[in-house]
Amino acid sequence: MPRRGARVFAALVAVFMTVAVPSKASGAPSKIPASLSRKEIIEMRDEVKSMFFSTLDAYVTHAYPLDELRPMTCEGVNGFGSSEGFAVTLVDALDAIATLGNKTAFERSVRKVIEHLDFDVDAHVSVFEMNIRVLGGLLSAHMLASDEATGFKLDWYDGELLELARELGEAFMPAFDTPTGIPYGAINLRYGVEVNETTVTSTAAGGSLILEFGMLSELTGDPKFMRAAETSLEALWERRSDIGLVGAHIDIVSGFWTQAEASVGAGIDSFYEYLLKSYMLFGNERHLAIFEEAYAAIEAHVRVAPWYLESGMATGNIITSRYDSLMSFWPGLQTLYGDIETATTTHDAFFQVWKHYGFTPEGFDVHVGSAIPGQKPYPLRPELIESTYLLYKATGDVSYISCGRDFLASLRLLKTKCGYAHMRDVVTQKLEDKMESFFLAETLKYLYLLFDAALDRENIIDGGPYPYIFTTEAHIFPLKLTIDAKDDRVQHSTPRLATAAVSFMRSFLRGGVTMMKKFGEEGTHKSEKFCAYHSLLWQIGLTRAPERPHNLTERLHSLTGRPNGVHSKRNSVHEFFSRMKRQDQTLFVRVGVRSLISGADQAAVAKRLAVMLERTHDSLRAISKEHFGGTTCAKLNNFRLASSEGTNENDSLDFEFRTNIPFNLANVCVSKAIMRAINLMMHTYANEIGSVWDDPVSQMSYIPVTEWNDGSGSTKEQEDDVEETDETESDEDVSSN
Ligand SMILES: *[C@@H]1O[C@H](CO)[C@@H](O)[C@H](O)[C@H]1NC(C)=O
Ligand SMILES: *[C@@H]1O[C@H](CO)[C@@H](O)[C@H](O)[C@H]1NC(C)=O
Ligand SMILES: *[C@@H]1O[C@H](CO)[C@@H](O)[C@H](O)[C@H]1NC(C)=O
Ligand SMILES: *[C@@H]1O[C@H](CO)[C@@H](O)[C@H](O)[C@H]1NC(C)=O
Repeated sequence: MPRRGARVFAALVAVFMTVAVPSKASGAPSKIPASLSRKEIIEMRDEVKSMFFSTLDAYVTHAYPLDELRPMTCEGVNGFGSSEGFAVTLVDALDAIATLGNKTAFERSVRKVIEHLDFDVDAHVSVFEMNIRVLGGLLSAHMLASDEATGFKLDWYDGELLELARELGEAFMPAFDTPTGIPYGAINLRYGVEVNETTVTSTAAGGSLILEFGMLSELTGDPKFMRAAETSLEALWERRSDIGLVGAHIDIVSGFWTQAEASVGAGIDSFYEYLLKSYMLFGNERHLAIFEEAYAAIEAHVRVAPWYLESGMATGNIITSRYDSLMSFWPGLQTLYGDIETATTTHDAFFQVWKHYGFTPEGFDVHVGSAIPGQKPYPLRPELIESTYLLYKATGDVSYISCGRDFLASLRLLKTKCGYAHMRDVVTQKLEDKMESFFLAETLKYLYLLFDAALDRENIIDGGPYPYIFTTEAHIFPLKLTIDAKDDRVQHSTPRLATAAVSFMRSFLRGGVTMMKKFGEEGTHKSEKFCAYHSLLWQIGLTRAPERPHNLTERLHSLTGRPNGVHSKRNSVHEFFSRMKRQDQTLFVRVGVRSLISGADQAAVAKRLAVMLERTHDSLRAISKEHFGGTTCAKLNNFRLASSEGTNENDSLDFEFRTNIPFNLANVCVSKAIMRAINLMMHTYANEIGSVWDDPVSQMSYIPVTEWNDGSGSTKEQEDDVEETDETESDEDVSSN
């Protein structure tokens, strides 16, 4: 596809302008609070409600007990490794049904789940996905169905959902039997870890278990689940870099990072979320301490205000200019932490991308100002809506309700015969016959809550008996002193928050709404800023640990040595963009070659490495010719074989390149060349080494790290070499042809 590549390249180069906002977005940020009346907000809330229940009914009619509904063809489809289906859409939606206040549907759905679910099946499942969607769904529904105070207690219910949750938790346990304590990413529910299971997993997968596993331990009285989750979190944190960053993928046997890019997006995101929320839910101070250090490192190295980009975990140097739509949860997390000011700025930037396309594409290049080719879908994701809801609760700023109006208007475009469809491409606006379970469980739930927060707040979360913590799948776990374990003799495995702290936190969580101006019957409302959530955690902390710092600014300063925690080298987008234009930089690339060399003798390894070098060299030249106007984009200066600490395994091949064209292009060029070389190599050797070659990313990783060579006078730019192409035109050209 040379033509396509050339276009993409032209698109990349055409935009050497220092704009942080999409070029199509005209004028000022459009998050201006338009006038909104109570009546309009009621209509929007009720529309979300009917979207939710008509889609739920369609799922039950056409797809149950399979996992998902195909919204265009009205069929069911499985996506979680079982041929029977786990009714994932329904399990995931249980507490959303309660949140939207429909007890009839809640009761009917709980029955259906209990009738159908069985985890003693030959199914190869992702521990992460099953944990956040299914285990979390079962636990939150259990706590609703068994507690009078929630208004959703079911008379006949006798802990069946908790029993299912326990079975699932037990089936997960063999995954944790690893040298590092970080679990395998996937497991067979009946047979345990499969023979050829990959040993590479993501940081999010190893680090987002503590809420569900901790709650399972609380409810069953068996501490092993919480312990396993804690061990895994610690094991990941232990392997942080000197500057406090973690990577995206890790080998659970060697503990070696196979993808060492730090970010708050894909592969890592909920690792951060669960550290803070573990403190909020269980009062785990260790996790708060880790969160604080981790947060400071992110603010120092990954933030390029107002964006968060990807940086090498060892150096903290930014290596891409990608806003990954999964990052959109981050302002919500910052809101919970009390860092409202930063959250607001970041949300503004993210929302402009939504405003530009009507959706957030999976990947958006903030340097180029457009969706990244190949990353243009919008698969009904909730994260930006989640942050909007939390920010509205924290600030009471009406403009967040008008964001809600935009979200709703966009989602209407995705309506199909039976439900709502993924958008395959935000530019062409073509749809795809798929609807993930999180659409009901999270997207519509948060949108409903956003509108309802401006109204009477009669939902269980903002008006019920307890404050709630949302899991990363938006399942609701109550914050209360005692969890009603089925067995009265159960000893709680962790100390719950002290009474004073809980009532304090409750008033604050509530405060977010009670202090907020309600929408009266008449008139419109102006934006009104105040921060009910602000310093929430410090306030709690003060009741328990008076020595805890309670000024975030000072805290970040002390942790990073920089005012406001901001990296002095890179505190503006302009500075960053000018770096991205430089050529003659050093680019280090680490390629995981474990599967290439394990099991081979010295002579064979040497031969394979020689072939790998040759292939890299050839690919570099070929790619430069195909896509980059002929100038060889980078020169291979040096390489070495690096082995992982504590083992004799020679895990990676480290390359050092000298770039010949602007850095962001050289980065793309080198990554293409390396991936091509890896592909050639793996096809050649996969059979020989008994490996299954189906996943280039997890089998052999590509990790770029940059060293900025400052002040060498080599910042000549090559804009003139490339013909200017209108970004919008090529954007559409790429996706529609
Ligand atoms: C309650 O749920 C049922 C089943 O999903 C649905 O048909 C009904 O319309 C819902 N009722 C309300 C008031 O939303
Ligand atoms: C926190 O500390 C900074 C720097 O010392 C100071 O400027 C700011 O006013 C403090 N904020 C609060 C809320 O005390
Ligand atoms: C792999 O590493 C070991 C030391 O950990 C070293 O002795 C050996 O020579 C290395 N193998 C190759 C092929 O470089
Ligand atoms: C593991 O991989 C080997 C080599 O490809 C294959 O022969 C074997 O059947 C696989 N085992 C399983 C359980 O998939």
